[in-house]
Amino acid sequence: MNITMIGTGYVGLVTGTCFAEFGHHVTCVDKIEAKITQLKAGKIPIYEPGLDLLVTKNVNEGRLQFTTQLEKAIPEAEAIFIAVGTPTSRRGDGYADLTYIYAAAKEVAHHLKGYTVIIDKSTVPVGTARQVARIIKEENPEADFNVASNPEFLREGAAISDFMRPDRVVIGVESDRSEQVLREVYKPLFLRDTPIVSTTIETAELTKYAANAFLAVKISFINEMAAVCEAVGANVSDLAKGIGMDGRIGNKFLHPGPGYGGSCFPKDTLALMRIVQEHGESVRIVEAAVEVNAAQKARMVKKIRDMLGGSESGKTIAILGLTFKPETDDMREAPAATILPALLEKGAHIKAHDPKGMKEAKEYLPESIEYMESSYDACKDADAVVLMTEWNQYRALDLERVKALMKEPVFIDLRNVYEAETMKAAGFRYTGVGK
Ligand code: UGA
Repeated sequence: MNITMIGTGYVGLVTGTCFAEFGHHVTCVDKIEAKITQLKAGKIPIYEPGLDLLVTKNVNEGRLQFTTQLEKAIPEAEAIFIAVGTPTSRRGDGYADLTYIYAAAKEVAHHLKGYTVIIDKSTVPVGTARQVARIIKEENPEADFNVASNPEFLREGAAISDFMRPDRVVIGVESDRSEQVLREVYKPLFLRDTPIVSTTIETAELTKYAANAFLAVKISFINEMAAVCEAVGANVSDLAKGIGMDGRIGNKFLHPGPGYGGSCFPKDTLALMRIVQEHGESVRIVEAAVEVNAAQKARMVKKIRDMLGGSESGKTIAILGLTFKPETDDMREAPAATILPALLEKGAHIKAHDPKGMKEAKEYLPESIEYMESSYDACKDADAVVLMTEWNQYRALDLERVKALMKEPVFIDLRNVYEAETMKAAGFRYTGVGK
């Protein structure tokens, strides 16, 4: 099958490459010439484990190609996926900015040949696919096409396995013919018994927001429970086990931390609130989750301050991990981008390390941060260590070495990687979240 992927951002590149791995012929299109030149040279603009190998393999086997020329990629395609960015609008009102989606629709319209399905892959407000259909019809009344929605549920850092072994695939379609095309696209998964949930277009569009909002609620819930645990002297990890083993609740996304970040939860919760308000309804639980998430970051600043004896002024803090989660170099909405400036403002000196994110971090964080070559370099002469992101390499630190390097043995574990007893035995003043 011939597939065109418009947009070689995170979603487009992973999805396009995985479709090629399925055996389809995929052309990935992007307007940014430098990006396409880079991809053609086998260089991947983002860090996602396994993606580089998969891109190289599929390019070499002739199933995956990159181009800036949309007009060449469209006529051959049976399915065209739109995976361009939908950032929060610059108006600052929480709406998703659909400029790139509509521009892509307009351009696609003029090059369509034969029956084609145009699928929104980007996370878009309910009603967007219908707008795409309207635009294509206006631009090219003769075009033979259907629109569809096929939201993605990929986690950064685990995107390839999420794609190859999904819990389900959701397709929102308006005709049997377009459903057949999408089932053909996902045939390899269908053969592996992956459930395909076929819905209306609007339901599929909303399902994506509902899934992310629900996960954000789950995280904010456990973060609030962590605060309650601290107040009453309970342990949130045991509590999470105690509730998570109930199959109705589930044990995933019950890890407390410094608040959720990334390019999805913060953006999608806000966008959902706006979509719902436009229809005269509200999602108060989601609003509360967003509030709790902001409060969680502030709570982490206070936790660090308290562990430093009430003031961070003049103190050196080692930060381990800067990205919003491990196995990515993505700094978008990373808790570090809120917590670190708050500490710097009050006179702290920050020495930071991250295995993959330091280059990105420099664009998001104040200049005064010192970036260190290794986690141990960061710990040297520190008054406290803050474990901000749970990269694997921070899970087995040489605690004796860390302690010997530090000025004061204070360890603030915002991801609950270590056990309090182990840390106390190693001579640290230790705190986690909710313990
Ligand atoms: C999220 C969803 O998990 C994907 O299903 C979805 O496709 C994607 O957004 C998207 O909309 O594109 P992602 O943002 O890559 O994926 O990362 P997650 O693993 O979901 O983590 C998001 C944030 O929540 C991170 O900051 C993470 O540290 C935090 N988190 C996650 C917790 O604090 N506790 C948890 O138990 C789980």
